[in-house]
Amino acid sequence: MDGSPHAASVAPAPAINWFHSHAFPDGEVTRGEKPIEVLRKEAEVVFRHGVAGKSVLDIGAWDGWFSFEAERRGAARVLAADHFCWSGEGWGTKAGFDHAHARYGSKVETRDMNVQDMSAADPGVFDTVLFLGVLYHLKDPLAALEHAASVTGETLVVETVTAFDPFPWKLAGYFEGDEYNGDPTNFWAPNRRCLEAMLRDVGFKRVETVRNPNIVPHWRNPDLYWKHSRVITHARR
Ligand SMILES: C[S@@+](CC[C@H](N)C(=O)[O-])C[C@H]1O[C@@H](n2cnc3c(N)ncnc32)[C@H](O)[C@@H]1O
Repeated sequence: MDGSPHAASVAPAPAINWFHSHAFPDGEVTRGEKPIEVLRKEAEVVFRHGVAGKSVLDIGAWDGWFSFEAERRGAARVLAADHFCWSGEGWGTKAGFDHAHARYGSKVETRDMNVQDMSAADPGVFDTVLFLGVLYHLKDPLAALEHAASVTGETLVVETVTAFDPFPWKLAGYFEGDEYNGDPTNFWAPNRRCLEAMLRDVGFKRVETVRNPNIVPHWRNPDLYWKHSRVITHARR
């Protein structure tokens, strides 16, 4: 990720609708929907247990910022996987990932694959699995966590929208149509208790949740407190 000898000679950025903002070693900056400061703040929590020397699978990688960050932090092997945004009906393409891969001179591997198709046989088991911003896009979140767990050797990191966190029960909120963020691909938001219970049920013994550092709940914004928040959960064997 320090840049390869080829980095300066790759073609200039094509017209890409970036989701991630990248700051490439040659000085080029892409401005995506997720600002670089937001990504860096999330990364401090996501990678809190370290990935140096680890194998890492990034499920739903899109423009790949977290895959390249894992590589930058010394991961031994990184596999970035996506389908919906790379070749499915999703909001983007793989052009951003491929451009970033060249710009970073990266060795991150890729697979066009959905979480529902993952197992210990294929693509195999990874020390650390990133499952960031994907869970609430899935119609069957428990089944998705089972698949994610099946490819996790040590730590599964889940970043997700939550709903009803202050309630003392295991609940999930369902988004009808496009009522969450105007996006009809948002389905389920568990609350923290529900998310942690599901993660224990799919085989993790130690589960810790913190609020996504980019979400600041405020009494003037009850949606963020009562209805929706975002969390980052580390589920460990
Ligand atoms: C909100 S983006 C999150 C991107 C990145 N992981 C992050 O946190 O910044 C959601 C990603 O999930 C991917 N996705 C949607 N359905 C998926 C599925 N069934 N399996 C794996 N990834 C999926 C989308 O293609 C998209 O890249």
